[in-house]
This record gives sequence, C-alpha cells and structure tokens, in this order.
Amino acid sequence: MSNACSYHQILLYFCLMFCFYLPCCVKSDELQMLLNLKSALNESSTNVFDSWESTNSVCSFNRITCNTEGSVKEIELSNQNLVGVLPLDSICQLQSLDKLSLGFNSLHGEITEELGNCLNLQYLDLGNNPFTGSFPDIASLSKLQSLYLNGSGFSGIFPWKSLENMTDIAVLSLGDNPFDRALFPDQILKLKKLNWLYLANCSIEGKIPPAIGDLTELMELELQYNYLSGEIPMEIGKLHKLWQLELYNNELTGKLPVGLRNLTKLEFFDASANNLEGDIAVVGSMTNLISLQLFENKFSGGVPPELGEFKKLVNLSLYTNLLTGPLPQKLGSWAEFNYIDVSENFLTGPIPPDMCKKGTMRALLMLQNKFSGEIPATYASCTTLKRFRVSNNSLSGIVPAGIWGLPVVDIIDIAYNQLEGPITSDIKNAKQMGILSAEFNQFSSELPGEISEAKSLVRIELNDNQFSGKIPHGIGELKRLSNLNLQNNRLSGSIPDSLGSCVSISSINIADNVLSDKIPLS
Ligand SMILES: *[C@@H]1O[C@H](CO)[C@@H](O)[C@H](O)[C@H]1NC(C)=O
Ligand SMILES: *[C@@H]1O[C@H](CO)[C@@H](O)[C@H](O)[C@H]1NC(C)=O
Ligand SMILES: *[C@@H]1O[C@H](CO)[C@@H](O)[C@H](O)[C@H]1NC(C)=O
Ligand SMILES: *[C@@H]1O[C@H](CO)[C@@H](O)[C@H](O)[C@H]1NC(C)=O
Ligand SMILES: *[C@@H]1O[C@H](CO)[C@@H](O)[C@H](O)[C@H]1NC(C)=O
Ligand SMILES: *[C@@H]1O[C@H](CO)[C@@H](O)[C@H](O)[C@H]1NC(C)=O
Ligand SMILES: *[C@@H]1O[C@H](CO)[C@@H](O)[C@H](O)[C@H]1NC(C)=O
Repeated sequence: MSNACSYHQILLYFCLMFCFYLPCCVKSDELQMLLNLKSALNESSTNVFDSWESTNSVCSFNRITCNTEGSVKEIELSNQNLVGVLPLDSICQLQSLDKLSLGFNSLHGEITEELGNCLNLQYLDLGNNPFTGSFPDIASLSKLQSLYLNGSGFSGIFPWKSLENMTDIAVLSLGDNPFDRALFPDQILKLKKLNWLYLANCSIEGKIPPAIGDLTELMELELQYNYLSGEIPMEIGKLHKLWQLELYNNELTGKLPVGLRNLTKLEFFDASANNLEGDIAVVGSMTNLISLQLFENKFSGGVPPELGEFKKLVNLSLYTNLLTGPLPQKLGSWAEFNYIDVSENFLTGPIPPDMCKKGTMRALLMLQNKFSGEIPATYASCTTLKRFRVSNNSLSGIVPAGIWGLPVVDIIDIAYNQLEGPITSDIKNAKQMGILSAEFNQFSSELPGEISEAKSLVRIELNDNQFSGKIPHGIGELKRLSNLNLQNNRLSGSIPDSLGSCVSISSINIADNVLSDKIPLS
C-alpha cells in the first residue's frame, strides 16, 4: 500500500517536472523567438502578425502550428508581403520546427550558416524572395523532404555536397538562381526518393548524366534554360513515372533516344530550342501528351500519325524544323484544343479540319510550309480564333466567308497562296482585327464597303491580287490604319477624299492600278 502510494507520488513529481513545468518554459522561450521574428519583419497589408502578442500562447498565433507538446512545429508565412532580414538565430532555436515556409515574400539579405541549426526541418521554402549572396552549407538538415530555393537571388557556388545525405528529399527546387556555372551535380543522382527536380535556369552545363535514369520516382524533371550539351541520355526512358519533362533552351544535340518511347505517362514534353535532329517518331508512343513543344530544332521526317489519336493534346508547337509529309487529319479533334504552330517546315497535304471542334481554339499557325487544298469551312465558325496564319503555302479555292468576320481575330494572314474569290461583307464582324494580310493571291471582286466597320485595322495588305472596282469611301473611318497596300490590282475610279481622315496613316501604296482623277487635297 505505502509502496504504491510513493510510486504515485513519484509519478506526480515527474508529471509536475515534465508535463507542466518544462513545457511552460519552452513555451516562453518560443514566445520570445517568435516575437523576435515578428519584429524583424515588416508586413504591409495582411495583418498576419495581429495575433502575435506576448499575452497569447504561441500555439494560438496566426499561421503557427504546434505539436501535441505545445512546441512550435510549423511556421507558414508564405505570400504575406513580408519585408526584412530573417532572424535565423531565433528561428533555428525552435527545437521542434519541421516546417518553415516563407516563399513569395520580400525577404532580403544573406542566409547565414545558422540555418544549419534548424536540424529537424522537413520542409523549407525560401523561394521567390530577393535574397543575396551564396547559399550556406545545410548538410545537417538531413531530414529535409522538400526544399524550395527557386527564384531567390542566390549566387556563387551552390553547396551541392550538402545534398548528398538528404536521402528523404522528394522535392528539390533550386532553379531560377544566378549560381556560378556548374556541371550537373552528381550528389542529386543519389536522392532516390526525388519526385520533383526543378533545376531550370541556374547555370548547369555539360551533359545530362545517364545515372539520371536511377531516379525512378521522378514525375517532374525540369532542366530548361541551362547550358546542357551532348545527347539526351537514353536512360531517361527508365523514368517511367515522368509526367513532365522540360529540356528546352539548352544546347542538346543528337536524336531523341528510342528509350523515350517508354514514357507513356508524359503529359508535358518540351525540348524546344536545342540542336536536336532526326525524326520524332518516339513521341508517337506518348499517348497522354497534353502539350508537345519541339520547335526550333533540326528535326526531320514526318509527324507521327499517332498524334491524330492523342485524346488529351491541346498545345502543339513544332515550328522551325525540317519536318515533311502531312499532318494527321484528326489532329486536335479530341480535347479542348488550344493552338497549333507548325510554321517554317516542309509539311504538305491539307489543313486538318477539326482542330476547333470543341470551340476552344485560339491560334492556327501554319505559315511557310507546302500545305495545299482549301481552307476548311470549319474554321469559319471558330469564334475563339485570335490568330489565323497560313501564309506562304499552296492553298487554293475560296476562303470560307466567316473567316473574314471572326469576332475576336487579331491577325488574318493568308498571303502568298493561290486563294481566290472576294473578301465578303462578313468583315464587318471582325471588330478586333488589326492585321489583314492577303497579298499575293488571286482575290478578285470589289472591296466590301463593310471594311470600314473593322475599326481595329492597322494594316491592310491586299496588294498583288485582282481586286477591281472602287476603293471604298468608308476607309476614312479606320482611325488606326497605318499601312494601306493596294498596289498591283485592278482598282479603278478616283482615290476617295476620305482617305485624308485616316489620321494614323503612315504608308499608302496604290500604285499599279487603273485609278483616275486627281490626288485629293485631303
Ligand atoms: C517597416 O515599415 C515602417 C513603416 O512603413 C518603416 O518606417 C520601416 O523602415 C520599415 N522597416 C523595414 C525593416 O523595412
Ligand atoms: C518555386 O517555389 C515556390 C515556393 O516558393 C513553389 O510554390 C513553386 O512551385 C516553385 N516552382 C518551381 C517551378 O519549382
Ligand atoms: C554523408 O554521409 C557520409 C557517410 O556517413 C559521410 O562520410 C559524409 O561526410 C556525409 N556528407 C555530408 C555532406 O555530410
Ligand atoms: C532566370 O533566372 C533569373 C534570376 O536568376 C530571372 O531573373 C529570369 O527571369 C529567369 N529566366 C527565365 C526565363 O525564367
Ligand atoms: C523500355 O521498356 C521496355 C519494355 O518494358 C524495356 O525492355 C526497355 O529496357 C525499356 N527501355 C528503357 C530505356 O528503359
Ligand atoms: C496552352 O498554351 C496556352 C498559350 O500559351 C496556355 O495559356 C495554356 O496554359 C496551355 N495549356 C496547357 C494545358 O499547357
Ligand atoms: C516563303 O517560304 C520560302 C521557303 O519555303 C521562303 O524562302 C520565302 O522567303 C517565303 N516567302 C515569304 C514572303 O515569306
């Protein structure tokens, strides 16, 4: 009996010691740490610190999360308009801190070695702040799972070595920093749990190491805007969970490796603006692509016919390559297609007719190829189209009337083809059209008077056609018009006096017509 009693007394004693006494002092220390943080930072509009008062418990502070023992576990202050220099000496004394989130603020100054004392951090976000100086060694932060330092002004040599034992890290975002040029860091190749690697725009040079293929958990790999050279290693094909692969704006050469065929989960693939060559047949296996960007390379051969069956494809950009052959005719007909740009290739055959089937298409850019046939009538009702550019091809036939009057179209560029027929009165609906470029075709008939209602027109280029009749009097109502090219047609009658009311005009060419009378004084 007395034994049991004293046992209880001991328990009570311990309880007083550890369950009540200790936490109370930890808390008051932590209170001071957080008040130091508050006083170091200015907050201009969010009032986030209103509850941070010495009379409150730290666990009731706005954007602070405590653990069950009442110690500060998380500081979530991203996107709070904070200005100032971080008091890391205070912050890193919070022994239980596992999340420190300060992205998208205006924190400045240097990040000091004291960061290495935040031993329990699992989540660190200092991204998108105007810090200066180089980033310190953080090898001691071995529990990190997410590290965001992107877009934070860090320069000099990044301490790559401090990453080598961070075996739990899943998200590593270091891009958009002006680091010194460095080879692809080997240390990263050991971080087997990585699922998101963002190393874009941070001065990485040399080759992409084949061992990248060992990071088999990767879902997003973003290496764009660097100085990467050499070939894309075929081992990238082992990253079968990849959902996004960004390699654009580098100096990569060679062909797309066959291994890429295995990347069937890929939804976003961009290898634009490199020196890649060979055919693009491998993308035919990437059936889940939403966006495919391969522009400004030296790719040759045909566009894989499988693209015509891709059910999610919405953006396709293959411009400035050496591609030949036709486009799959069902291209863009499945999803809410947004744009195609295949300009400056050697593509042949007809324009796929159903890219605006879902009524969402914004740009059809197919200039400078060898497309033939007629402009499909389907585009005449594509009311979302802003840019319709098919110049310098071998298109023929009559332009579907609705094309002239697309309601939000900004540019109609159909020059340098063998198109014929009239410009129709539909043009009155093209209230946003700034450029009408239809020169070097076989258009004929009179210019519609309704052109005066296309009030946004800045450039009218209709030269080198067979237009006849008079220059519409209403042209004087086009107050933004700066260039009027009507030369080399069969226009007759007198030059309208109203032309003098085109207050923005800087260039008029009406040579080589059969105009008569005097040049109006206006
Ligand atoms: C904080 O804001 C106040 C008032 O706008 C200003 O006087 C002070 O200089 C600012 N402090 C810092 C560290 O930016
Ligand atoms: C950059 O960092 C922010 C946090 O500061 C994060 O939300 C964002 O996803 C990161 N972007 C990339 C591309 O890593
Ligand atoms: C990583 O761990 C190894 C083995 O324990 C050790 O030798 C090395 O110094 C560690 N690296 C860093 C940067 O701490
Ligand atoms: C690259 O990073 C710098 C900061 O180092 C930034 O100013 C620039 O906008 C970034 N470029 C791109 C294309 O994102
Ligand atoms: C692609 O998948 C095939 C079949 O699963 C496999 O034999 C091949 O090794 C894989 N290629 C790469 C580069 O992973
Ligand atoms: C497609 O491209 C447009 C224009 O650049 C962009 O706004 C949109 O987000 C892209 N869609 C996808 C799914 O990438
Ligand atoms: C038309 O395309 C050819 C190449 O296919 C090019 O040489 C020529 O300059 C282009 N003409 C115009 C007017 O853009």
